[in-house]
Amino acid sequence: MTKLLLLLAFTSAFMVLSASAGNVVCYFASWTIYRPDNGKYTALDVDPNLCTHILYAFVGLGEDGSVRVLDDWELTGLDEMNHLMSLKEQNPNLKIILSMGGWNEGSQKYSAVAASPGLRQAMVQSVLAFVDQYGFDGFDLDWEYPCQRGGVDEDKATPLNEKGLILSAAVSGGIASCELSYDIPGVSENLDMINVMVYDFHGAFESFVGHYAPLYASSLDATDEQKTLNVAAGIEYWLDQGADPKKINIGLGTYGRGFALADPNNSSLYAATYGGSEAGPYTRAMGVIGYNEVCELYSSWEYTWDDEQQVPHIQNGNQWLGYDDEKSIQLKVEYANSKGLGGAMVWSLDTDDFRNVVCYFASWTIYRPDNGKFTALDVDPNLCTHILYAFVGLREDGTVSVLDDWELTGLDEMNHLMSLKEQNPNLKIILSMGGWNEGSYKYSQVARNANTRAAMVQAVLDFIDLYGFDGFDLDWEYPCQRGGEDIDKVR
Ligand SMILES: *[C@@H]1O[C@H](CO)[C@@H](O)[C@H](O)[C@H]1NC(C)=O
Ligand SMILES: *[C@@H]1O[C@H](CO)[C@@H](O)[C@H](O)[C@H]1NC(C)=O
Repeated sequence: MTKLLLLLAFTSAFMVLSASAGNVVCYFASWTIYRPDNGKYTALDVDPNLCTHILYAFVGLGEDGSVRVLDDWELTGLDEMNHLMSLKEQNPNLKIILSMGGWNEGSQKYSAVAASPGLRQAMVQSVLAFVDQYGFDGFDLDWEYPCQRGGVDEDKATPLNEKGLILSAAVSGGIASCELSYDIPGVSENLDMINVMVYDFHGAFESFVGHYAPLYASSLDATDEQKTLNVAAGIEYWLDQGADPKKINIGLGTYGRGFALADPNNSSLYAATYGGSEAGPYTRAMGVIGYNEVCELYSSWEYTWDDEQQVPHIQNGNQWLGYDDEKSIQLKVEYANSKGLGGAMVWSLDTDDFRNVVCYFASWTIYRPDNGKFTALDVDPNLCTHILYAFVGLREDGTVSVLDDWELTGLDEMNHLMSLKEQNPNLKIILSMGGWNEGSYKYSQVARNANTRAAMVQAVLDFIDLYGFDGFDLDWEYPCQRGGEDIDKVR
C-alpha cells in the first residue's frame, strides 16, 4: 500500500482514497518509463487499488482525424498499454481511459478537426476503434485549449455514451482561459467527468515568484486577474457558470514549480526571478519538480507555509520551489468536499512519492516548524475511510520495533490517532509496517523462517491489540521471492 495515500494526502499519509463521492482520477504519463533510477515509472508500477480511474496520457491526433500513437516503441515494444490493462485483473472496478492531447499537441489541429464535420466523424471512428482494440473504458480529451469552440461537441459524445463508455475532459481552471474556451453548461451536460486543472497558475514562464496552485488568493495579489489565479476561484467559476458539482474533479498536482530568485533575500510573492529552478534528476526540466524529488532530495531545505494561500514552498539559496504536500492536499480535498465535488484528478502518478522514499503518513511531519507541522490531531476524521499509520519497523527476531519512541509515547501520537474514532466510528485505523527506509533484507530473513514468522504474527497482534488498530498493512519494499503470505497469516 502506498501511492494514493501519497497521492491524495500525499503520503501524508492519510487514506483519502474514498473521500466524498470518491472519484480518484489519476493520470498515467506514459513517457516516464524513460526516467532514470528511482524516477522511472512504468505501467507495472501502478498500484491497481489507488485510483478509481486511470487516464493513459497521451495519444495524439492526426490531421485526418485519426488517433496517432506518439511513441510506438513504448506501446508495442514495451507493451505498456497491455500492462496497464492487466491492472484490471487485480481490480475489476478500475476504469482505464484513453486520453488524447496534452500541452505538446498544441491546439491548431484540434480546432481544424473540430471545425469540419467530416474530420469530426473520422475522429469519432478512429477513437472508437482504438478504444475497442485495447479495451479502454472511455475517452478523455485534453485539448489545451479550445479557444472558439465548446470543449466537446455532441456528435462526439453520443457514440461513446451509447457504448457505455466514459467521456471526460481536462479543462482549464484559469478564468481568463475559460471565458475564451468553454460553453460550460454544454460541457457539463455532455461529459461524465470534468477534470478542472486548477494548477499551473504561475511558473517559470513568468519572471516573478508565484505558487503554481495556491488554494486561495494572497493579500499581495493586486489586480483582478491575479486574485483569480487560485484553486478556489477556478472551481467557483465552473460552479457559478452552471457545471454540475458532482461531475467536477478538483485537479491536484504531485509536482511543483520553481524559480531562481533574482535576490535570494527576497522570496516573497511577486519578487523578481531569473528563470526556472534547476532541473531535478527525474523530471529533468527547469522550473518543474516532482514531489518525489522534494521528498528524496530537498527535505532539508527551509520550509515555509503560506497562511493566506494555504500552500507550502521550500527555499535553498536562490532556489525557490512551490509544491503541494500532505497538508495542502488535505486542505484542497476538504475544500472539494465542502463544495460537493465528485472527487479529485491527480496529475500524475509518476511524480508522486511512489517509492515511499520519505513521505507517507509521515508521522515524522510533527517535527516540521510552525504551520508545516502535521500531527495526528490535524487529521480530519471524516476525510478518510481508512487511515494507515506509517510506519513501525521490524526487528530481526520478528518483533515490532517502534521507530520513534518519543513520538509514540512522549507525544502520545498513537492515542491521538485512535481518538479520531470517537468522532467517526466507521473510521478504520491500520498499522503499517515497513517503508522504503526499512529496506527489504530483514523482511526476507523473517519471512524465510517459520519461527520468526510466527513471532512476527504474535508481535503484530499484540501491538494491534495494545493500541486498538483495525488492521495491518505490510509495506515491504519489495518482496522479491515471496508474496503476501504473512499478511494472510496475520488475518
Ligand atoms: C542578503 O542578506 C544578507 C544578510 O543581510 C547579506 O549579507 C547579503 O549580501 C544579501 N544578499 C544580497 C544578494 O543582497
Ligand atoms: C521583494 O520584491 C517585491 C516585488 O518586487 C517588492 O515589492 C518588495 O519590496 C521586495 N522586498 C524586499 C524586502 O526587498
